[in-house]
Amino acid sequence: MANLDLPVIPQHVAIIMDGNGRWAKQRGLPRTIGHNKGVEAVREAVKAAGETGVKFLTLFAFSSENWSRPESEIEDLLGLLRRFIRRDLADLHRENIRIRIIGEREKLRSDILPLLLEAEETTRGNTAMTLVIAFNYGARDEITRAVGRLARDVQAGLLKPEDINSDAIGSRLDTAGIPDPDLIIRTSGEERLSNFLLWQAAYSELVFLPCYWPDFDRQQFEEALRIYAARDRRFGGLSSATTAVVG
Ligand code: IPE
Ligand code: IPE
Ligand code: MG
Repeated sequence: MANLDLPVIPQHVAIIMDGNGRWAKQRGLPRTIGHNKGVEAVREAVKAAGETGVKFLTLFAFSSENWSRPESEIEDLLGLLRRFIRRDLADLHRENIRIRIIGEREKLRSDILPLLLEAEETTRGNTAMTLVIAFNYGARDEITRAVGRLARDVQAGLLKPEDINSDAIGSRLDTAGIPDPDLIIRTSGEERLSNFLLWQAAYSELVFLPCYWPDFDRQQFEEALRIYAARDRRFGGLSSATTAVVG
């Protein structure tokens, strides 16, 4: 168990796992080696999150824009996800981890969709932690699909336009039932969201770490938790310190 001693631990941590390619390039290796090494960092992250008491861990594995990469790299990434689920599903299940997949799944290939569904189905009753895998995920696509559902529900008479509120939208997103991320970590030094959880990140704390994803480990995770614990979340109100003085 971690000896972290922090005043607050985020309930939901989401990670933009970035920098596999640059990690490899720095070593004169093909990008695919960086992606391979990145899977080990995924295992580290899942373990560290579970041990520190994080209840939801979301990992950005493949974006709806990543299809624009070369065919061979896409094959590498899909192959890694398939192997990760085949090899690690039993372990994750044993650890009482529930898996949820977010992202567009209608048009997914037959060599990937059944595996994702199996992972969700097998682990449906697990309660220790939820591992959310964002695959073929893009926030604009997710919001667009949610808006389509709203429109269909209005058309079918299930919902009145005046009843559309943020709950009506949130419950039609892929993340329905998952609390918003408290902390979003991005590795590799890039400081952008790249179409990740745009709706859900409204009040997330953002932490950008310089390390490339394959170098991410428990220490990096704890570093992000320490930065998070020192932040003052106000949600548009006043900080608790101010309230204590004023009130
Ligand atoms: C993250 O590493 C993996 C995915 C986006 C799937 P990158 O492949 O983006 O690595 P860089 O950003 O080119 O270094
Ligand atoms: C974001 O990383 C997507 C994932 C981590 C899966 P990218 O490497 O695709 O993002 P950009 O292109 O640098 O914005
Ligand atoms: Mg990248």
